[in-house]
Amino acid sequence: MNFTSAVCLFVTVVLSVCAEKPHIIFIVADDLGWNDVGFRNPQMITPNLDRLAKAGVILNSSYVQPVCSPTRNCFMSGYFPYHTGLQDDIIDVNEAKHLPVNLTTIPQKLKQLGYDTHMVGKWHLGFCNWKYTPTERGFDSFLGYYSGAEGYFNHTRRGGRDEVGLDFRYNKTVNRDANRTCSTRVFMHRAIEIIQNHDNSKPLYLYLPFQSVHAPLEVPPKFENMNKNIENIRRRIYCGMVSMLDDAVGNITEALEEKGLMDNLLLVFTTDNGGPTYTASNNLPLRGAKNTLWEGGTKGAGFIYSKTLLKKTGYLNTGMMHAVDWYPTLVELAGGENADPNIDGVSQYDMLINGGPSKRNEFVYNIYDEREAAAIRYGDLKLMQGSPGDHNGWAPLPHLGIDEGVYEADNQVFPPFMLYNITADPTEHFDLSAKYPDVLDMMKKRLENWKKSRVPPQDPSPVPRANPKYYGGVWSPGWC
Ligand SMILES: *[C@@H]1O[C@H](CO)[C@@H](O)[C@H](O)[C@H]1NC(C)=O
Ligand SMILES: *[C@@H]1O[C@H](CO)[C@@H](O)[C@H](O)[C@H]1NC(C)=O
Ligand SMILES: *[C@@H]1O[C@H](CO)[C@@H](O)[C@H](O)[C@H]1NC(C)=O
Ligand SMILES: *[C@@H]1O[C@H](CO)[C@@H](O)[C@H](O)[C@H]1NC(C)=O
Ligand SMILES: *[C@@H]1O[C@H](CO)[C@@H](O)[C@H](O)[C@H]1NC(C)=O
Ligand SMILES: *[C@@H]1O[C@H](CO)[C@@H](O)[C@H](O)[C@H]1NC(C)=O
Ligand SMILES: *[C@@H]1O[C@H](CO)[C@@H](O)[C@H](O)[C@H]1NC(C)=O
Repeated sequence: MNFTSAVCLFVTVVLSVCAEKPHIIFIVADDLGWNDVGFRNPQMITPNLDRLAKAGVILNSSYVQPVCSPTRNCFMSGYFPYHTGLQDDIIDVNEAKHLPVNLTTIPQKLKQLGYDTHMVGKWHLGFCNWKYTPTERGFDSFLGYYSGAEGYFNHTRRGGRDEVGLDFRYNKTVNRDANRTCSTRVFMHRAIEIIQNHDNSKPLYLYLPFQSVHAPLEVPPKFENMNKNIENIRRRIYCGMVSMLDDAVGNITEALEEKGLMDNLLLVFTTDNGGPTYTASNNLPLRGAKNTLWEGGTKGAGFIYSKTLLKKTGYLNTGMMHAVDWYPTLVELAGGENADPNIDGVSQYDMLINGGPSKRNEFVYNIYDEREAAAIRYGDLKLMQGSPGDHNGWAPLPHLGIDEGVYEADNQVFPPFMLYNITADPTEHFDLSAKYPDVLDMMKKRLENWKKSRVPPQDPSPVPRANPKYYGGVWSPGWC
């Protein structure tokens, strides 16, 4: 081999190594509040999340939808839910709602770019027909559940009256092996198994939406006991659930290290919505809770971590981003192009990877259809129309045996429009709508403009044929 061809070979090898697509692990916590992470609240015992967040980038303006299915719709499609018919609340277990099939999901897109795609955890984007379920929406494998809010140990949930069934699968097969094992552990083991069995020459996309830390409040005693300094029993169990999630993430990152995937990997950690303070979570200093348009319902706790990919680390990123942005961001990270001109997301690759400015100056918090309510953001400003939802206060940390004060400030009557300067007033104490009528008008016009592209909500009635009693006691596709 002469000198030139040796150099060429060397360059080729280096280029092919450089060009290797990064592995992506996208971890979602369910119902985790703004103030429920140790890197923000010293009450929380989350050493693994804290370590990763501090060595990575803490996201301080990363917005999500007020509830579960709509946010997952954003992660999967890059579209706002008021553009996919999922704007009004979650997908109930007996409702024939689903993520529209003509949208290319992020795993489908990443598969086109050469990725192995696996999902472990909660789907909640429709299952009344097999064609809406994870293994037909881009995932090579799936272990988890189709709906939401089930027991952590029995993996069983209730629908309407007389509707009780198991909701747990491995791919399409009913999975009873996990009976009496907490889902946090089941999902952790499956994630580690995927990591250990992965062929390192291929890029991996692992979507890992945990059941933790959604209600019901259930956790093995070991993790509850880690938090026994907390007097309030509900808060103590809740914090134990967060600690267990943290422990599972710690074990998963260890497996990633051992397998050698960590050297070229982006880890995303995000909640799906703000914390339900009425269960036991906490969003202080933010106002409101899950299921509201306040910042407490929509400003998501989250961070990114990478050992090698981030140009700037160890800081709080205040750039504005929304859950729809993950889709184009991950596509760019994977070396692909986003060809859909209608997608709502914008790639925040430069902001997240290089520490550059945000590509976004505005977004839609949500535009409801079932009621005259909406919120939008434009720069510093936030406009809210109609009722922001229930739970409108600044719920304190529960500390005694009772959750005193938590329901304070509910059922308030609000003016038809409210205006906040989120930069100056992130905790939404000062409604400026009466003080700045011209600004209010400008914002109302912007809202009208956003509303022009709204699509009708998928708004089906409950389907009696969904009852698990017709499917051997298991929530199953086949009724739409
Ligand atoms: C999906 O279908 C809906 C309803 O027919 C349509 O409005 C929308 O433009 C389609 N979206 C894409 C990305 O094809
Ligand atoms: C799940 O599907 C994937 C892809 O077809 C396959 O590799 C895996 O073995 C399946 N697992 C089970 C338990 O069926
Ligand atoms: C499953 O567990 C939940 C939470 O502990 C409980 O409320 C529910 O009754 C259990 N369901 C069954 C069928 O045992
Ligand atoms: C789980 O185990 C319990 C207790 O053994 C049993 O009653 C229940 O039917 C099992 N559930 C499933 C889905 O197999
Ligand atoms: C993490 O791994 C350790 C050591 O194997 C184990 O003791 C612990 O229970 C695991 N965490 C969870 C949440 O299963
Ligand atoms: C919002 O508050 C910021 C910070 O105090 C200020 O710079 C900005 O001018 C305010 N925006 C408006 C439109 O009042
Ligand atoms: C981060 O967000 C919180 C909550 O909205 C806010 O109080 C704080 O000022 C933000 N930090 C920075 C540096 O912008």
